[in-house]
Amino acid sequence: MWWAQQVLPKAFSCHGTTINDLAKQCFQHLYPILFMLATNAQLNNIDFRFISTTYSSDGKLLGRCKLVEASLLETLKETRKRLYQSMIKHSDVATLSSSISSAPYVVQLYLVDHNHIYISVFKTSLSEHFGWRQPLPVSGGIIPIEMDKEPPSRAYIKLNELMGLLGRRPAPGSKIAELGSAPGGWTASLLKLYKPQDNIQIQSVDRSPLESWLTKAYRPPTLTHHIANGLTWEPEEPVDWLFNDMALPPMKSVKVLERWIKERQCSQFAWTLKFVGESEYDAVTDAVETMMKCYNVSYTIRHLANHGNELVVVGVVHP
Ligand SMILES: C[S@@+](CC[C@H](N)C(=O)[O-])C[C@H]1O[C@@H](n2cnc3c(N)ncnc32)[C@H](O)[C@@H]1O
Repeated sequence: MWWAQQVLPKAFSCHGTTINDLAKQCFQHLYPILFMLATNAQLNNIDFRFISTTYSSDGKLLGRCKLVEASLLETLKETRKRLYQSMIKHSDVATLSSSISSAPYVVQLYLVDHNHIYISVFKTSLSEHFGWRQPLPVSGGIIPIEMDKEPPSRAYIKLNELMGLLGRRPAPGSKIAELGSAPGGWTASLLKLYKPQDNIQIQSVDRSPLESWLTKAYRPPTLTHHIANGLTWEPEEPVDWLFNDMALPPMKSVKVLERWIKERQCSQFAWTLKFVGESEYDAVTDAVETMMKCYNVSYTIRHLANHGNELVVVGVVHP
């Protein structure tokens, strides 16, 4: 379950040989549901968003699914104007984290082959600490990320995806420790989220230096870089957030996280576990579960769309 990008709960399938057939089938099945959701949205202020999604190695099915969606929307627009207008269509990270007050219904179309489409309508949920649960209210479960040329590595994409998924970020005034920070993709991306008056303090740790422009642009206490071993480095006082992106054998990585938690040196964390091959998944996630129970930590494990053979453990350490 950690690895699923998106799920289609309670899906049912429609059949059609042409795009118009498929769209008509979708309309007939979906219209009563959409009507009910729109009424519910109006009466109870619960959003719903319409998501069409499909996967295909050659991209041909994706094009077909988009055409079915376009045809369905056109029919809705022509025949059910008010309903059409009340449907939420666009999704981006900003919409995800700020303007959705209550978790929406997610309506998904998933074209499995040329003639079959799955439809799923399900209410997602948003937890205070762990963000969006599945089904994610974005197409294919992939949080859109704005490309940015400034960070010195593309690793920033993973951090931004995680923030989008969580629907939040460290609060202004937070003290942050970041292990395995070089060359500074995450660091640059984090720093960009705040103004100087937000008093964010990042202590980054790596065996290597950060990209020089970063340490010139940001000085202590906003950014302090430590050339040190992330396995043993400790902050002078506990931090609000701990981030880790060190490439370590996963069992060793779990042990390092355990020290931080056991000594209550962080309140929240996002800890990347990097795997080689598939052999260790269960042993590692079992070890994480045992540890979190032992130290009274609420946590979730997620696999991001931009992850390789990695997982991230996000946790809240209770005092
Ligand atoms: C995947 S890169 C991190 C990329 C970084 N998060 C970014 O956004 O640019 C992994 C980093 O972990 C560092 N690393 C691995 N083991 C370490 C250790 N024991 N102590 C400190 N740094 C370590 C490496 O030097 C490397 O810079």
